[in-house]
Amino acid sequence: MRRPPGSRCCPPALMLCSGGCARSTGLLLTLLAMLLLLLLPAQRSLWLQLSRTPVHHRATTTAAPRRVTQASWPSPVPSMPPELGDTYGQDETYSSSGCPNSIRKKIGATEFGATFLSTIPVLQWARHAQEDEYQRLHQYGGAHGWKDIRWDVLKSSLSLLNASSSALLFDIRPLATSCTRCAVVGNGGILHGSGMGPTIDAHDYVFRVNGAITEGFERDVGSRTSFYVFSTNTMVNALRSYAANGFRHPPQTPETCYVFLPDHDRDYLLLRAALSQQRVDSGRDAGVHPQEFFGKDLQVGKFRMLHPDFIRYLRNRFLRSHILATPFWQLYRPSTGAVMLLTAIHTCDQVSAFGFITPGYRAYSDHYYDRERKEVQFFINHDLRMEMQLWQRLQRSGILWLYTGSEGT
Ligand SMILES: *[C@@H]1O[C@H](CO)[C@@H](O)[C@H](O)[C@H]1NC(C)=O
Repeated sequence: MRRPPGSRCCPPALMLCSGGCARSTGLLLTLLAMLLLLLLPAQRSLWLQLSRTPVHHRATTTAAPRRVTQASWPSPVPSMPPELGDTYGQDETYSSSGCPNSIRKKIGATEFGATFLSTIPVLQWARHAQEDEYQRLHQYGGAHGWKDIRWDVLKSSLSLLNASSSALLFDIRPLATSCTRCAVVGNGGILHGSGMGPTIDAHDYVFRVNGAITEGFERDVGSRTSFYVFSTNTMVNALRSYAANGFRHPPQTPETCYVFLPDHDRDYLLLRAALSQQRVDSGRDAGVHPQEFFGKDLQVGKFRMLHPDFIRYLRNRFLRSHILATPFWQLYRPSTGAVMLLTAIHTCDQVSAFGFITPGYRAYSDHYYDRERKEVQFFINHDLRMEMQLWQRLQRSGILWLYTGSEGT
């Protein structure tokens, strides 16, 4: 049985810059790139990447907590360099949907059978605030680990994410034979004039990312948001870049849950502030009240946080870009939109993707809400071409339904 539109995801209890690039970040990257190019003229692949893709400057659930073990999963990919860290914790949470043709039941027989790990941790919560876990994840930087997070910040922040809802995006129904259907909405210009709004809103859950403007675009993109996926960095950039398009704050409907993709300590500091209903007490966002972003309802059931193992796994196994073989490898991560779509693929039974990049992307503006036409922009910290190819492969494998407008692929 389908949930009525407006049901809550959690019952009470692109580009360095997929969120819109801060000028300073783009400039910094450009300078870094030029410096490295001067120092490393022999980096041919790097040169190609930069010359083809210039850096532009622009602005609940009541389920019982599941067993989680810290055991390592051996890598079946022998060529993986050890610094990429292709070993992960395990989480048994996602094995139990009753849907007869769920993604998890189908994926083993596809080309992704050896890529997919059924016990990869998707979310992190209080259970993970342990010193041995900290030692393990302290090896990896950015979104891929906890290298840049102090133990006291990490512990005090994650410990607050301690509700039964913290371990799951949404309730899994092991006995139901119906399937959980998710609409995952990127911000691509292909949605402009699409009329897909009612189709999107008719799904059980609707995912959105970064500068997710719905007001005034309901016909094309719908109005519901069950999950808003962001890093604090991409959200703040999007607020700055798309204010003129009407993006004043992330969606704040009663059903909306906020899913952090932590890639900096500012994410842990903002989460801690939100869950203790206080202003951010330190770092770049010191003094900001979380209500500015998330509205007045700051109960723990409204928040989730993606696990660094999950982001590293997506990078290593689904979006292992050639950028990883360049001096920029530490800047690279899957785009926030890509992480959102792959999160849905790892949690929902069926996934429809709207507003993601397609081979015909040159025919559309960058975003559906652009007032003037803008080219899609490529940055060296993401690999949008590889993401585009991945969506095509997942579509061909029957894992994903991808909105392609009139491209007819
Ligand atoms: C979660 O942590 C808070 C703050 O430490 C505490 O008051 C609350 O009882 C905890 N809730 C659960 C379900 O353990």
